[in-house]
Amino acid sequence: MTRLAAPRDPVTIHLDGDPVVAERGEPAAVALVAAGQLALARSPKFHRPRGPACFRAACDGCLARVDGVPNVMTCRIPCREGLRIETQNVVGSKDTDLLRVADWFFPEGMNHHELLAGVPGLQRVFQGFARRVAGIGRLPDAVVPPRAARRREVDVLVVGAGPAGMGAATALAARGREVEVVDDDLAWGGAARVLEGVAPGRWRSSMTAFAGVLARGRVRLSLRTTAAGVYGDDVLLAREADDGPGERRDAGVRVEVVRARTLVLAPGAHDGGVAFEGNDVPGVLSARAGCRLLAHRVVVGARVVIACIDGGGPYGRAYAAAQPEALVVRGAPRRASGSSRIKAVTFAGAEGGASGGASGERRIPCDALLIDAPGAPAYELSSQAGAQLSHEVRGFVVRAGRGGRIREGVFAIGEAVGTALEPEAIAKAARDLAAEV
Ligand code: FES
Repeated sequence: MTRLAAPRDPVTIHLDGDPVVAERGEPAAVALVAAGQLALARSPKFHRPRGPACFRAACDGCLARVDGVPNVMTCRIPCREGLRIETQNVVGSKDTDLLRVADWFFPEGMNHHELLAGVPGLQRVFQGFARRVAGIGRLPDAVVPPRAARRREVDVLVVGAGPAGMGAATALAARGREVEVVDDDLAWGGAARVLEGVAPGRWRSSMTAFAGVLARGRVRLSLRTTAAGVYGDDVLLAREADDGPGERRDAGVRVEVVRARTLVLAPGAHDGGVAFEGNDVPGVLSARAGCRLLAHRVVVGARVVIACIDGGGPYGRAYAAAQPEALVVRGAPRRASGSSRIKAVTFAGAEGGASGGASGERRIPCDALLIDAPGAPAYELSSQAGAQLSHEVRGFVVRAGRGGRIREGVFAIGEAVGTALEPEAIAKAARDLAAEV
């Protein structure tokens, strides 16, 4: 892993007590990957190494204990001086986890609930073992008492500050609506910010327009805020506090129940998944994740292969344009080899440079594999709000009416309804929505 530029505002964070230099405010997982710490987590049962695969709170490869709180997605934690990150779910060390033997002893898998159950003497011993292999993390250092959620009403609530959410918020603010935007990321912009960070130009005008309404106070923005569910007319929001020195993360979570006159759902799309052997080995990431790292001026590996699958998004192309030494291969991998880090990827009938491999296969040595597969629309909130869904190869797609209408006062826009991730298409959808609202 390499930084393309030294941190401009460096801070020191700690991984298992060891100092790591980071850029202030960048996601902790990015800083750790930049420092060569790719295998950050372990799978719960077989303790296989896991690494960040998405950098957008959608996998379990970056889970760690942060300032005494277990199971924190470190891709959603901004770096600050003194941030304390600890590997969890290991016996031994991050790199040598003794519970890894569970995988070697049970190559065909095991049901830990029934492990030697009923065998006098041994049952008790193996219950302890089963508990160790099946859990993730230890309880927090301190107990935080529950707090009542705050209720409030707003004019327009836009969920998602990516291209579609920015477009909808900008268009509705121009019509005099009072707009509030929430997003669970550390920065607004979503896919637009990622792509602008890798291949500047195409999304600049929509980002400039959104920055303008923010600067003029026409739109209120809440980052690190997750829309956790839609319940009738209510939206449940969970908001992280700003992490100040010594501030406990879990003490900072605020919960709100918000009712909006107009609710706009713009959650975008999930990274497309592809089933192949070894797709969970550290170093196998989505192409969007590779671009996210690159936007933070971090390259994911020295020998990067990009698997471009029919219907995939713009991320593989963008990464390859910015890093021409990356090898682009058309088609899905057959397998990825490696344990704590990918060592090679094998394709069947693939194009591109390759070496070795069995008959009909091409095995390509690499230290990172980016998967650029069709994104799966993030349909969940729209479905909770009552939207009809249709099932396509890429996943469930929200079926909405004119302007993205799901029902009275509720709209969906962008990739969630199948709109292409293209500036012109998103801008038109935003205009249509504003006209319909
Ligand atoms: S959840 Fe953090 S990298 Fe996927």
